[in-house]
Amino acid sequence: MNRMAEDVSRVRMYTGPAIMYFINLTTLIALCLINMLQQDVKLTLIVISPLPILALTIYFLNINIHKRSTRVQALLSDLTTNAQESFSGIRVIKSYVQEKAILGFFRKSSEEYRKNAVGLAKMEAVYFPSMNLIIGLSTLITVLIGCQIVLHDTTKVGLIVEFVIYILLLIFPVSAIGWVASMTQRAAASQKRLNEFLQQEPAIQDKPATKPADLDGDILFEHVSFTYPNTGIKAIKDFNLRVKKGEKILILGKTGSGKSTVAHLLLRSFDPDKGNVYVKGVNIKDMPFNQLRHNISYVPQDVFLFSDSIANNISFGLSEKASQQRIEDAARSASIHNEILELQNGYETMVGERGVMLSGGQKQRVSIARALIKNPELMVFDDCLSAVDAKTENEIITHLNKFLSDKTAIIITHRIFTVFSFDQIIIIEDGEITERGTHESLMKQGGYYAELYRKQVTEAQ
Ligand SMILES: Nc1ncnc2c1ncn2[C@@H]1O[C@H](COP(=O)(O)OP(=O)(O)OP(=O)(O)O)[C@@H](O)[C@H]1O
Ligand SMILES: [Mg+2]
Repeated sequence: MNRMAEDVSRVRMYTGPAIMYFINLTTLIALCLINMLQQDVKLTLIVISPLPILALTIYFLNINIHKRSTRVQALLSDLTTNAQESFSGIRVIKSYVQEKAILGFFRKSSEEYRKNAVGLAKMEAVYFPSMNLIIGLSTLITVLIGCQIVLHDTTKVGLIVEFVIYILLLIFPVSAIGWVASMTQRAAASQKRLNEFLQQEPAIQDKPATKPADLDGDILFEHVSFTYPNTGIKAIKDFNLRVKKGEKILILGKTGSGKSTVAHLLLRSFDPDKGNVYVKGVNIKDMPFNQLRHNISYVPQDVFLFSDSIANNISFGLSEKASQQRIEDAARSASIHNEILELQNGYETMVGERGVMLSGGQKQRVSIARALIKNPELMVFDDCLSAVDAKTENEIITHLNKFLSDKTAIIITHRIFTVFSFDQIIIIEDGEITERGTHESLMKQGGYYAELYRKQVTEAQ
């Protein structure tokens, strides 16, 4: 954000003041020079000779000062980020006894900042005196040479005075040349960086609506493979899944097996490398984003709450204003209503940045309520009960069971929910489906699911 603001203001300096001064100075310089040359060519050439040096000095000093000030800015930003992080992570720093190390690091970076800032100040201290020196030099040369001419020919006094005035007139536009030139150079670099943002094409393109194809099933994954482009990790390999309207699907698997990737592909956060995903008979690549995403309610694995009231966080996805009744119903279905009422300001309680005022489990349930209030036909829950205790989990699942009775749902988890009866259970391992079936058939098969069930359910009882 800092960079963008800085780049935009540099381009603005170019399109505004720099162009204005450029027109101003070219007109003024041209008019002065024409007049001077008409009067006395030799004298003109002598008196203007220091002026190019003035322009060049200003140009180079400006570039140098700019370079240094960019470095000082960057160091300052490092320093403040470092300080901010140390404060927000103060509990971790203290519990790992790293105060000294962090302080040492802070000292080192503030020392570096100080050195660079002093360097910049020295540079700036040289800037104005050297400019004045060159300006003074031009006037001095004019007067010296003028005196010699006047000694030979006293009628030329007027000419010398005229030339001194010309020189004084020229000084500002000539110094502006250096300034405009360095400004233009900076603006060009800034515009290049801005273009990188402006010309960025989204990897996933929105499409206008097309006619639905005739496919059996509400959600269909057909030979889907996906590799994360940044890491090259093959997260999903030849994934096939058909979910009929009203079915409840459980996706189970070890951590890092590719469960969340399935949800990302369904919501088109990424496009698969191979294969296609269909929702309600339409290839999601041919479906406008808002149609797809309005149809699916998604509870992400990482809870994100906005620093706003609980009520506004719950009604976030609705385009119209939600009634209090509707918000409370959603909160009840997510088993958080009673806890919200216990808070000082109830539904109007502000949750703080990213929801810091709530516990992990409360945040998860507010996030669930936010998905439920949309009341869509398709729901995806990604490991959304990991931070609640077994009793609350059972309570939520009982509510969800009722809520989801006429809906299609995909539930992703590490744990087995016994309260729910699933139409299909899928085990993913390294991006591949290794087991699929119903609870009964998988128990008979005696694989990963049966083992997990034995560990989590039978042994717990
Ligand atoms: N944004 C990403 N960029 C690159 N690689 C990723 C990204 N997200 C996940 N991966 C990789 O893809 C693989 C599958 O990740 P995924 O998030 O689907 O696992 P998961 O089954 O949801 O795990 P968990 O149970 O821990 O949530 C992992 O190896 C992971 O490192
Ligand atoms: Mg995950």
